Amino acid sequence: MKQNLIKQLTIIVLTLLSVTVYALPKGITMNHSGEFNTLLTINPTERYLSLPIEEAAPEAFIRVIIDGVQVTTFNARLAADSIDYVVPFDMQPYMGKQIILDIHFPLYHYNKKHPYNKTAIRPDRRKFICWKEMQTSDRFVVHNREQWRSTYHHTPFYGWMNDPNGMFYDALSGLWHLYYQFNPYGSRWGNMNWGHSISADLRHWTEQDVAIAPDALGTIFSGSCVIDKRGDAGFGKNAIIAFYTGADQSQKQSMAYSVDGGKTFVKYDGNPVLTDTTPDFRDPKVIWNTKKGCWTMVLACQQEMRFYSSQDLKTWHYDSRFGEGYGNHSGVWECPDLFELTIEGTNEKKWVLLCNINPGGPFGGSATQYFVGDFDGTTFTCVDGKEEQKWLDYGKDHYATVTWHNAPQGRVVALGWMSNWQYANEVPTKQFRSQNTIARDLGLYRDDKGELRVAVRPSSESLAAKGKLTDKLNPTAVVEIEVPAAKKNTVITLSNDRGEQVTMTYNFKKQTFSMDRRKSGKTSFSKDFPAVTVVPLFVTRDTYRLTLFIDNCSVEAFDGNGAWSMTNLVFPNKPYNNISVSNGSYKIYEIR
Ligand code: FRU
Repeated sequence: MKQNLIKQLTIIVLTLLSVTVYALPKGITMNHSGEFNTLLTINPTERYLSLPIEEAAPEAFIRVIIDGVQVTTFNARLAADSIDYVVPFDMQPYMGKQIILDIHFPLYHYNKKHPYNKTAIRPDRRKFICWKEMQTSDRFVVHNREQWRSTYHHTPFYGWMNDPNGMFYDALSGLWHLYYQFNPYGSRWGNMNWGHSISADLRHWTEQDVAIAPDALGTIFSGSCVIDKRGDAGFGKNAIIAFYTGADQSQKQSMAYSVDGGKTFVKYDGNPVLTDTTPDFRDPKVIWNTKKGCWTMVLACQQEMRFYSSQDLKTWHYDSRFGEGYGNHSGVWECPDLFELTIEGTNEKKWVLLCNINPGGPFGGSATQYFVGDFDGTTFTCVDGKEEQKWLDYGKDHYATVTWHNAPQGRVVALGWMSNWQYANEVPTKQFRSQNTIARDLGLYRDDKGELRVAVRPSSESLAAKGKLTDKLNPTAVVEIEVPAAKKNTVITLSNDRGEQVTMTYNFKKQTFSMDRRKSGKTSFSKDFPAVTVVPLFVTRDTYRLTLFIDNCSVEAFDGNGAWSMTNLVFPNKPYNNISVSNGSYKIYEIR
């Protein structure tokens, strides 16, 4: 009798536990509907709803419904078993209305306890931890708890970032605008928006609201901005015109304009402006074409770059293509750029076509290839041999590099995404993922063999990071090193007291500089991360000057004369606090 009662009570308690309804914040009701659908009905009183994310969970598909109309959709890895971080869902646009979040969960999750056993399990979504931890608030605060957050490199406030997009310099305000591929709902790739940051000095960045969000034509892939000084597009003089790829069932080019200096954008109602049957058809870079007096758009199409022209920025005509048989073709060509540079020490000018490629980089994965040549306003002709491969940077973490429109004094200022598609989604940061390189000025020089190469130098704004001289290697620093050419190799080591180290070697016999990050700290998150990267010295000298920019998760090495650069991520468990140079001298500067 008594045993029966205990049994029955146990069953009641267990049943109750299995259908526990978590207390959601005030104003939110939850209904689990059917096999995989959960509806959250929200009458917002505060701006943000925090969504708990678990990176190992599969993506749930979320439809935002207002007055019976689907206003937007996004994907989020809503936490099932544990929470890695939270992301904000901004309810500001819907204040005073009722919001329905119509969440579709995938029926099956992979069994996380046995990651190599791909057997699927069917979890009970009613018990997901996300329901327990959802909160509303008027402020979304991300405390910087992460040891590898860069201090003077641009990082997103939270969430995922890849390519820099639409960069332009506003001469009136003196502000550098940087847009970027941004996922506001997690720190892995997805839901592409154009995030936005501004800076007066290219080192301190202020986060802005999302500039361009997905619509029914697709998510917002990479592209560029121009200042339409004359008002050619009909949106007024000095309108900022953004070109981007709408990515959905196909990739097509669209435009949006801003009449408030790049803060907010209105999408053009004639979108898309350019379509094609090529599946990879993206990343429009628009420049003013001085040769023909029109606008030119360079587009990446699989393994070639295509050129289009326009008078009004809306109607585009095909001009030419470049690429077949030239350079590296081991991957898809992406994110083009085209600009003119003067060969240093001469009055002669040449054009440079940037061609980011993934995979196919010299050390695996993504890298920035370029071609030197002539552009007659219609066609780009390369002056190098077809087999020649030139790289803008010889590290593993320099991708999607493009330049600023309208940079001051006619400078060509470039910025790259400091990661690699081989492991960008796996690097050991959580609340945010990825950072950009320091800004770099590009030039053109001839190497010892007479080959034209792009010179890469830290921009004056980046060099202004150099603060007081110090004799201790702080976690972040600029280090200037002088190394005399010698018979023996010169080895430069950054290390911490855990034996983690980055070693850089001048090998004078082979005439190379290399960087070895195999013992640099955390490396096991990807088999492609441990690596040694190598660059030919290109120009022989008696003394080599080297500048290192060291931040919490990166080492950028620059030849003192601009002959080459090498950019690599590192994740030391403790910051490197020692430097040694086997033959040569060095100066350490604090970061200002
Ligand atoms: C390059 C790239 C672009 C594309 C974007 C999508 O990293 O693949 O070609 O527009 O990322 O996020």
